[in-house]
Amino acid sequence: MRAALRDMKAEDLDAVVALERECFAQPWTRAMLAEELRQGQGWRQVAAGPSGEVIGFALGRKYPDEWHLMDVAVAPRARKRGVGTRLLRVFVADADRAGKPVLLEVREHNEAAIALYEGHGFSVLAVRRGYYPDTGENALVMWRDPGRAERAGGTGLSGPLLAIESSCDDTAAAVLTPQGQVLSTLSHSQDSIHERYGGVVPEVASRAHVERMTAVVSEALRQAGCTMDDIAGVAATVGPGLIGALLVGVQTAKAIAWARRLPFFPVNHIHGHLAAAWLADPDAPLPMVTLVASGGHTTLIRVDDRSIYTLLGQTLDDAAGEAFDKGARLLGLGYPGGKELDELAEKGDPRAFSFPVAMKRSARPDFSFSGVKTALYYLLRTMTPEERQSRAADIAASYRKAIVDALVSKSVKTARHEAVRSLAIAGGVAANSLLRRRLVEEGEAAGLHVVVPAFRYCTDNAAMIGAAALAGPRLEYPDYLAIDASASLALGEWLPKKS
Ligand code: KG4
Ligand code: ZN
Repeated sequence: MRAALRDMKAEDLDAVVALERECFAQPWTRAMLAEELRQGQGWRQVAAGPSGEVIGFALGRKYPDEWHLMDVAVAPRARKRGVGTRLLRVFVADADRAGKPVLLEVREHNEAAIALYEGHGFSVLAVRRGYYPDTGENALVMWRDPGRAERAGGTGLSGPLLAIESSCDDTAAAVLTPQGQVLSTLSHSQDSIHERYGGVVPEVASRAHVERMTAVVSEALRQAGCTMDDIAGVAATVGPGLIGALLVGVQTAKAIAWARRLPFFPVNHIHGHLAAAWLADPDAPLPMVTLVASGGHTTLIRVDDRSIYTLLGQTLDDAAGEAFDKGARLLGLGYPGGKELDELAEKGDPRAFSFPVAMKRSARPDFSFSGVKTALYYLLRTMTPEERQSRAADIAASYRKAIVDALVSKSVKTARHEAVRSLAIAGGVAANSLLRRRLVEEGEAAGLHVVVPAFRYCTDNAAMIGAAALAGPRLEYPDYLAIDASASLALGEWLPKKS
């Protein structure tokens, strides 16, 4: 159940003192907390759980020229439900209404809190050296201008964005601030459903999206500490992908936006994968070359700014993820198999077998992976079942090396040829451990800033769709009612052409 926020009362003092002690190594004393309750300039709210118990609180001071946020505590058992975020948001909204800037202090190493404040429009104003007596740690003084949130992002959103992704076999939803800070991101994989068919069955995927979508959206809102009432805009992947699967996300997003008269943000799935790079590293210097390698795509794209993309090269046959998955299948590993093959390869000798990868030496920034899969098929045919078993790790290691060699050498070569400053990777195959290591090593050796996003932003997810939406077109209510999904949206297209 969603926690209720209310004013702090004198009777809450015991609970607040207890919670303060539970949360901090250097808690405020009872006398200090009692003084805050009496303070004429005080701002105090508690979050109450289902039976009225205090599960969080925030304290601030309303000075004439600026407001200070002084203390935010959330009970350990009530964390990851967005309670702290909601307390912060209410404080900031009150300060905005009063037209006052907000100041706060945060431990220099508390990256999660710093990211949360940045997401709400705060920036670092000063450093207080050795401010915390327990560790001697520095404090960052962070500052937020009133109205900063409305100006940031360029989308004019006055509250969080809900983003939905359903282009293939993951049902995903995320909530982002207007500045692109991820408040929650959630993905429900259908792997266990499609496993028995050995591949994604489109009709089955669409049905599974319909069954899960509402729950995934509600849970993303809950984890972000929002309700539908807080949402100021809705984004969804409109293509490319499986048409039936896409339609579930597009119709859900349009229905929510239409019912609440909100703007709608159509997003190209590939633009979403590219946005994973700036979710991971917002300051990565541009231009950038990004390798998008997943079960469905293997493309090299030049990114000049967050909405200007150029296709440089792509696979001529199988996608890299498909090559991993087909290899895994031939080796009798799990489904989809890329991850299992990767894990097995860690235990093998990559020089044991030699696999050809077409296009590796060609100057064109294209890939081809069907040859390596065929080579594996014929190699396994020459082996006895015992040999296949005993050499499995060596085969996996050699096979993985062939694919990764091609991906890394083409990506670094293309980035140098384009004279860009950064090289990034995205898509499910970016989870491959050898690929991650080698791209960093070889990219940095070539003088490039290398961006390897966290795994949750590499595989299909809605946070990346939200991040891309903030750089793309915004359609006002009700102009988007006729927007359709498209199975084949080209790079650079944000919405299907009118037919
Ligand atoms: O981006 P994604 O989640 O979905 C598509 O858009 O296709 O990518 C899934 C692909 C699958 O082919 C999966 O086997 C592959 O990413 N994959 C991996 C690894 N983890 C996932 N491939 C190689 N090594 C991995 N560790
Ligand atoms: Zn994808």
